[in-house]
Amino acid sequence: MGVFVSTDDPGPAGHEQVVFCQDRQSGLKAIIGIYSTALGPALGGTRFYPYASEEAALADVLDLSRGMAYKNALAGLDLGGGKAVIWGDPDQVKSEALLRAYGRFVQSLGGRYYTACDVGTYVADMDVIARETRYVTGRSVEHGGAGDSSVLTAWGVFQGMRAAAEHVWGNPSLRGRRVGVAGLGKVGRHLTGHLVDDGAEVVATDVDPRALEWARTNHPGVALVADTAALVAADIDVYAPCALGGALNDDSVPALRARVVAGAANNQLAHPGIEKLLADRGILYAPDYVVNAGGVIQVADEIEGFNFDRAKLRATRIFDTTRQILRLADDEGVPPAVAADRLAERRMADVGRLRAIHLG
Ligand SMILES: NC(=O)c1ccc[n+]([C@@H]2O[C@H](COP(=O)([O-])OP(=O)(O)OC[C@H]3O[C@@H](n4cnc5c(N)ncnc54)[C@H](O)[C@@H]3O)[C@@H](O)[C@H]2O)c1
Repeated sequence: MGVFVSTDDPGPAGHEQVVFCQDRQSGLKAIIGIYSTALGPALGGTRFYPYASEEAALADVLDLSRGMAYKNALAGLDLGGGKAVIWGDPDQVKSEALLRAYGRFVQSLGGRYYTACDVGTYVADMDVIARETRYVTGRSVEHGGAGDSSVLTAWGVFQGMRAAAEHVWGNPSLRGRRVGVAGLGKVGRHLTGHLVDDGAEVVATDVDPRALEWARTNHPGVALVADTAALVAADIDVYAPCALGGALNDDSVPALRARVVAGAANNQLAHPGIEKLLADRGILYAPDYVVNAGGVIQVADEIEGFNFDRAKLRATRIFDTTRQILRLADDEGVPPAVAADRLAERRMADVGRLRAIHLG
């Protein structure tokens, strides 16, 4: 079943297509949202989550698919934006039959939507989905996939952070800068490695004692603090949120001592207006979806047949994109988050328009 959806804030174009998928036997209830295919097939992961209601699942897929269109546009990919949610507790209902039923719905869209991993779905799940559809990325290395995307995500965040450092201090090097990393998970660990290699002083925190142990063992020079509040209040130059969303909020921004924010976490701005609060405090925010695009660059590369060096080169260009956005923000007198949105919309409009030229 497909429905037309109108939201209060549909963006410049609104969603192209929203598809509800159901398979009672396996318990599958999924919604696939395609925000835009102006630049190519929509790419975005599948979130498997026990939403409180169908409305909550729908709201999430609409938000996330729109975000992917912007992220993919600024990553320079020939891909539009989409996302899917499977409504249910993965620990209770995830099964081969459910994932394969979902794969058949993805296949039924004929390549308008490519899926990948997100919260609650893993590389092994993509391998199962791939038994029913060609339109899946983020598979295991054994199945021709690119494997763990956190490697290039961290590399891209590092590049975005370097561009922000150059903008503020006139030099992209992080040597001697104090960088606060909140969340030493998959991305935070790789990022810490890059920072240490570049000569930065890293201060970090995590709620998981195993993550702290990892830091003590692998990077004894990293200073560990009790929690994120202590990190935010610490004497740091750069803040890198690498845990959950909403890191930049009405509590953290007034307390933040860093001049630059650049991190991997999605949806760092807790609500509209926070980007202005950051700008008013003289804090440069490198937009999350720009600097954390290394992961989607990696899975997108898989569509062509994965080549790590090619994907890394593209993730390295996050430096140039971040620099361009920060300059545009200055030129147009808007916060970087607004400049990033404008640049993404421009690319979707300028390149998407070319489809109107008839090829005969
Ligand atoms: N992995 C990717 O390729 C990728 C791509 C784009 C964006 N992201 C985003 O980057 C962030 C990190 O991703 P990841 O793959 O490293 O996830 P992860 O689950 O491996 O790591 C997250 C870490 O944050 C820690 N954490 C959770 N709550 C915390 C808190 N309150 N304070 C401090 N630490 C806390 C966890 O213990 C964990 O170690 C997420 O927001 C994710 O959505 C990841």
